[in-house]
Amino acid sequence: MIRTFDMFIETEVPENEEIISLTDFSGIITYANDTFAEISGYSTDELIGKPHNIIRHPDMPKSAFEELWNSVKNGKEWQGFVKNLRNDGGYYWVFARVSAVYKNGKTVAYKSVRESISRERKIEMQNIYDTLRNKEENQSRIVVYVDNSKLDEIKKLEE
Ligand SMILES: Cc1cc2nc3c(=O)[nH]c(=O)nc-3n(C[C@H](O)[C@H](O)[C@H](O)COP(=O)(O)O)c2cc1C
Repeated sequence: MIRTFDMFIETEVPENEEIISLTDFSGIITYANDTFAEISGYSTDELIGKPHNIIRHPDMPKSAFEELWNSVKNGKEWQGFVKNLRNDGGYYWVFARVSAVYKNGKTVAYKSVRESISRERKIEMQNIYDTLRNKEENQSRIVVYVDNSKLDEIKKLEE
């Protein structure tokens, strides 16, 4: 189970690194670079063979991925901001470029190359995605403040 408080722990993508993955036509991961493994908290072996939605964060609106799939299936590149879920329940933000990989004029795979984004952009995108999700899925994201003593009680309940 994902504990709510773990979901607020952010991992920063280093500015000089790219997170790269390849998938088959159904979104099963066929390649993951070391940065992908490190930032997502999985090993490359754990990632390969899994559907890419293994790192789907509940804050992401459905429409973002619908657009992504429509684009790549039609041979167009999709670019967008993505909040991803880490193995430990935390998250990380990226700017992703998703496109088809061609060999002898035929599509053989899909690939995504991702880079870090600014703090301002993360805040902006969180707000945009919260609004979209609220419209699309009738779901709201709420953040509450509790006394530390209450937090200890909640943590005990989760154990
Ligand atoms: C090349 C490629 C890379 C993808 N990368 C991600 C990603 O980093 N995070 C993510 O949540 N979904 C990613 N997706 C989309 C997932 O396949 C999936 O559509 C999404 O997680 C939503 O899950 P759902 O389709 O089960 O609703 C990627 C898809 C492709 C083709």
